[in-house]
Amino acid sequence: MENIHPIFDRTESRTDKERLLGHRGTVVWFTGLSGSGKSTLAIALERELSARGILCRILDGDNVRCGINAGLGFSEADRRENIRRVAEVCRLFVDTGVVVLACFVSPTRELRGMAREIVGARDFCEVYVATPLAECERRDVKGLYAKARQGGIRDFTGISAPFEEPEHPALRIDTSGRSVGECTDRILETILPEIKLK
Ligand code: ADX
Repeated sequence: MENIHPIFDRTESRTDKERLLGHRGTVVWFTGLSGSGKSTLAIALERELSARGILCRILDGDNVRCGINAGLGFSEADRRENIRRVAEVCRLFVDTGVVVLACFVSPTRELRGMAREIVGARDFCEVYVATPLAECERRDVKGLYAKARQGGIRDFTGISAPFEEPEHPALRIDTSGRSVGECTDRILETILPEIKLK
Protein backbone atom coordinates (compact mmCIF):
# COMPACT_ATOMS: atom_id res chain seq x y z
CA MET A 1 0.00 0.00 0.00
CA GLU A 2 1.85 2.98 -1.32
CA ASN A 3 1.95 6.12 0.86
CA ILE A 4 0.28 4.35 3.79
CA HIS A 5 2.19 4.29 7.08
CA PRO A 6 0.36 2.25 9.74
CA ILE A 7 1.09 3.02 13.41
CA PHE A 8 0.11 -0.46 14.66
CA ASP A 9 3.28 -0.86 16.72
CA ARG A 10 2.90 2.48 18.54
CA THR A 11 -0.66 2.17 19.87
CA GLU A 12 -1.49 0.52 23.20
CA SER A 13 -1.61 -3.24 22.83
CA ARG A 14 -4.57 -5.56 23.09
CA THR A 15 -3.07 -6.96 26.29
CA ASP A 16 -3.05 -3.44 27.79
CA LYS A 17 -6.71 -3.02 26.90
CA GLU A 18 -7.68 -6.43 28.22
CA ARG A 19 -5.90 -5.75 31.49
CA LEU A 20 -7.76 -2.46 31.74
CA LEU A 21 -11.11 -4.20 31.27
CA GLY A 22 -10.26 -7.33 33.26
CA HIS A 23 -11.34 -9.78 30.56
CA ARG A 24 -10.39 -11.04 27.11
CA GLY A 25 -11.95 -9.83 23.91
CA THR A 26 -13.62 -12.40 21.68
CA VAL A 27 -16.26 -12.76 18.99
CA VAL A 28 -19.41 -14.79 19.49
CA TRP A 29 -20.58 -15.29 15.91
CA PHE A 30 -24.29 -16.12 15.68
CA THR A 31 -25.30 -17.67 12.38
CA GLY A 32 -28.75 -18.88 11.39
CA LEU A 33 -31.82 -18.08 9.33
CA SER A 34 -33.59 -14.74 9.54
CA GLY A 35 -35.95 -14.94 12.50
CA SER A 36 -34.06 -17.83 14.13
CA GLY A 37 -33.45 -15.77 17.29
CA LYS A 38 -29.86 -14.55 16.85
CA SER A 39 -30.54 -10.96 17.90
CA THR A 40 -32.90 -11.93 20.73
CA LEU A 41 -30.21 -14.18 22.22
CA ALA A 42 -27.51 -11.54 21.72
CA ILE A 43 -29.63 -8.91 23.51
CA ALA A 44 -30.23 -11.24 26.46
CA LEU A 45 -26.56 -12.21 26.52
CA GLU A 46 -25.47 -8.58 26.46
CA ARG A 47 -27.49 -7.99 29.63
CA GLU A 48 -25.95 -11.03 31.35
CA LEU A 49 -22.41 -10.08 30.34
CA SER A 50 -22.84 -6.43 31.36
CA ALA A 51 -24.11 -7.58 34.76
CA ARG A 52 -20.82 -9.47 35.15
CA GLY A 53 -18.78 -6.37 34.28
CA ILE A 54 -17.95 -7.58 30.78
CA LEU A 55 -17.92 -4.95 28.05
CA CYS A 56 -19.71 -6.10 24.91
CA ARG A 57 -20.94 -4.81 21.59
CA ILE A 58 -23.74 -6.21 19.48
CA LEU A 59 -23.24 -6.07 15.73
CA ASP A 60 -26.40 -7.00 13.88
CA GLY A 61 -27.09 -7.40 10.16
CA ASP A 62 -30.21 -5.23 10.09
CA ASN A 63 -28.40 -2.48 12.05
CA VAL A 64 -25.11 -2.36 10.15
CA ARG A 65 -27.01 -2.43 6.88
CA CYS A 66 -28.47 0.95 7.96
CA GLY A 67 -24.98 2.35 8.61
CA ILE A 68 -21.54 1.27 7.43
CA ASN A 69 -23.07 -1.29 5.08
CA ALA A 70 -25.94 0.80 3.76
CA GLY A 71 -26.15 0.17 0.04
CA LEU A 72 -25.19 -3.51 0.20
CA GLY A 73 -27.86 -5.99 -0.89
CA PHE A 74 -28.14 -9.76 -0.75
CA SER A 75 -26.31 -10.95 -3.86
CA GLU A 76 -23.40 -13.32 -3.17
CA ALA A 77 -20.92 -10.50 -3.74
CA ASP A 78 -22.73 -8.05 -1.47
CA ARG A 79 -23.10 -10.59 1.33
CA ARG A 80 -19.38 -11.31 1.05
CA GLU A 81 -18.53 -7.59 1.34
CA ASN A 82 -20.99 -7.26 4.25
CA ILE A 83 -19.33 -10.09 6.15
CA ARG A 84 -15.80 -8.99 5.23
CA ARG A 85 -16.39 -5.51 6.61
CA VAL A 86 -18.13 -6.65 9.79
CA ALA A 87 -15.41 -9.21 10.44
CA GLU A 88 -12.81 -6.40 10.20
CA VAL A 89 -14.92 -4.35 12.64
CA CYS A 90 -15.13 -7.39 14.94
CA ARG A 91 -11.35 -7.58 14.93
CA LEU A 92 -11.04 -3.93 15.93
CA PHE A 93 -13.33 -4.56 18.89
CA VAL A 94 -11.47 -7.73 19.89
CA ASP A 95 -8.21 -5.79 19.78
CA THR A 96 -9.86 -3.37 22.23
CA GLY A 97 -10.73 -6.25 24.60
CA VAL A 98 -14.44 -6.11 23.86
CA VAL A 99 -16.74 -9.12 23.54
CA VAL A 100 -18.55 -8.87 20.22
CA LEU A 101 -21.93 -10.49 19.74
CA ALA A 102 -22.15 -10.67 15.95
CA CYS A 103 -25.56 -11.58 14.50
CA PHE A 104 -25.39 -12.30 10.80
CA VAL A 105 -27.24 -14.85 8.67
CA SER A 106 -23.83 -15.53 7.06
CA PRO A 107 -25.41 -18.35 5.06
CA THR A 108 -22.41 -20.19 3.62
CA ARG A 109 -19.42 -22.03 5.03
CA GLU A 110 -17.22 -19.90 2.82
CA LEU A 111 -18.53 -16.65 4.33
CA ARG A 112 -18.17 -17.90 7.90
CA GLY A 113 -14.72 -19.27 7.07
CA MET A 114 -13.70 -15.83 5.82
CA ALA A 115 -15.00 -14.18 8.99
CA ARG A 116 -13.10 -16.72 11.10
CA GLU A 117 -9.94 -16.05 9.16
CA ILE A 118 -10.20 -12.26 9.47
CA VAL A 119 -11.00 -12.38 13.20
CA GLY A 120 -8.56 -15.20 13.97
CA ALA A 121 -9.71 -18.70 14.94
CA ARG A 122 -8.64 -18.27 18.58
CA ASP A 123 -11.13 -15.40 19.02
CA PHE A 124 -14.02 -16.79 16.99
CA CYS A 125 -16.76 -18.77 18.71
CA GLU A 126 -19.45 -19.93 16.28
CA VAL A 127 -22.96 -20.34 17.64
CA TYR A 128 -25.42 -21.89 15.23
CA VAL A 129 -28.96 -20.80 16.03
CA ALA A 130 -30.54 -23.86 14.45
CA THR A 131 -34.22 -22.95 14.69
CA PRO A 132 -35.88 -24.83 11.78
CA LEU A 133 -37.14 -22.91 8.76
CA ALA A 134 -40.74 -23.92 9.52
CA GLU A 135 -40.51 -22.33 12.97
CA CYS A 136 -38.82 -19.14 11.67
CA GLU A 137 -41.55 -18.92 9.07
CA ARG A 138 -44.29 -19.53 11.65
CA ARG A 139 -42.89 -16.68 13.80
CA ASP A 140 -42.26 -14.39 10.82
CA VAL A 141 -41.64 -11.47 13.17
CA LYS A 142 -40.68 -9.10 10.34
CA GLY A 143 -43.22 -10.42 7.83
CA LEU A 144 -40.37 -11.19 5.42
CA TYR A 145 -41.12 -14.89 4.88
CA ALA A 146 -44.67 -14.13 3.74
CA LYS A 147 -43.30 -11.49 1.40
CA ALA A 148 -40.58 -13.83 0.09
CA ARG A 149 -43.12 -16.63 -0.51
CA GLN A 150 -45.15 -14.21 -2.58
CA GLY A 151 -42.07 -13.50 -4.68
CA GLY A 152 -41.59 -10.03 -3.17
CA ILE A 153 -37.96 -10.55 -2.03
CA ARG A 154 -35.21 -11.87 -4.27
CA ASP A 155 -32.55 -14.23 -2.91
CA PHE A 156 -34.23 -14.66 0.47
CA THR A 157 -32.23 -17.06 2.63
CA GLY A 158 -34.06 -20.34 3.22
CA ILE A 159 -36.63 -19.64 0.48
CA SER A 160 -34.81 -18.61 -2.68
CA ALA A 161 -31.20 -18.53 -1.49
CA PRO A 162 -29.27 -21.29 0.28
CA PHE A 163 -28.33 -21.70 3.92
CA GLU A 164 -25.53 -24.19 4.62
CA GLU A 165 -25.50 -25.56 8.14
CA PRO A 166 -22.22 -25.13 10.03
CA GLU A 167 -20.40 -28.46 10.35
CA HIS A 168 -18.56 -27.88 13.61
CA PRO A 169 -20.05 -24.95 15.51
CA ALA A 170 -18.88 -24.40 19.10
CA LEU A 171 -22.56 -24.59 20.00
CA ARG A 172 -25.79 -25.47 18.19
CA ILE A 173 -29.04 -24.20 19.66
CA ASP A 174 -32.55 -24.80 18.39
CA THR A 175 -34.63 -22.12 20.12
CA SER A 176 -37.97 -23.79 19.45
CA GLY A 177 -39.46 -24.97 22.73
CA ARG A 178 -36.65 -23.39 24.77
CA SER A 179 -36.78 -20.17 26.76
CA VAL A 180 -34.40 -17.32 26.00
CA GLY A 181 -32.92 -17.78 29.51
CA GLU A 182 -32.22 -21.45 28.88
CA CYS A 183 -30.46 -20.70 25.58
CA THR A 184 -28.50 -17.81 27.12
CA ASP A 185 -27.27 -20.00 29.98
CA ARG A 186 -25.89 -22.53 27.48
CA ILE A 187 -24.07 -19.83 25.53
CA LEU A 188 -22.65 -18.34 28.74
CA GLU A 189 -21.27 -21.75 29.75
CA THR A 190 -19.45 -21.92 26.43
CA ILE A 191 -18.07 -18.39 26.28
CA LEU A 192 -17.26 -17.40 29.87
CA PRO A 193 -14.10 -19.57 29.94
CA GLU A 194 -13.02 -17.90 26.66
CA ILE A 195 -13.38 -14.42 28.15
CA LYS A 196 -11.45 -15.10 31.33
CA LEU A 197 -7.99 -13.51 31.52
CA LYS A 198 -5.33 -16.17 31.90
S1 ADX B 1 -26.00 -11.81 5.44
O1 ADX B 1 -26.49 -12.93 4.60
O2 ADX B 1 -25.28 -10.81 4.64
O3 ADX B 1 -25.20 -12.30 6.58
P1 ADX B 1 -27.44 -10.12 7.26
O4 ADX B 1 -27.38 -10.87 8.52
O5 ADX B 1 -26.49 -8.97 7.11
O6 ADX B 1 -27.32 -11.13 6.02
O7 ADX B 1 -28.90 -9.52 7.06
C1 ADX B 1 -30.01 -10.38 7.21
C2 ADX B 1 -31.27 -9.59 7.55
O8 ADX B 1 -31.65 -8.77 6.47
C3 ADX B 1 -32.43 -10.54 7.80
O9 ADX B 1 -32.60 -10.81 9.17
C4 ADX B 1 -33.62 -9.82 7.25
O10 ADX B 1 -34.21 -9.01 8.23
C5 ADX B 1 -33.05 -8.89 6.20
N1 ADX B 1 -33.17 -9.36 4.80
C6 ADX B 1 -33.67 -8.61 3.80
N2 ADX B 1 -33.58 -9.25 2.63
C7 ADX B 1 -33.00 -10.47 2.86
C8 ADX B 1 -32.62 -11.56 2.04
N3 ADX B 1 -32.82 -11.56 0.73
N4 ADX B 1 -32.06 -12.66 2.63
C9 ADX B 1 -31.85 -12.67 3.95
N5 ADX B 1 -32.17 -11.64 4.81
C10 ADX B 1 -32.73 -10.54 4.26
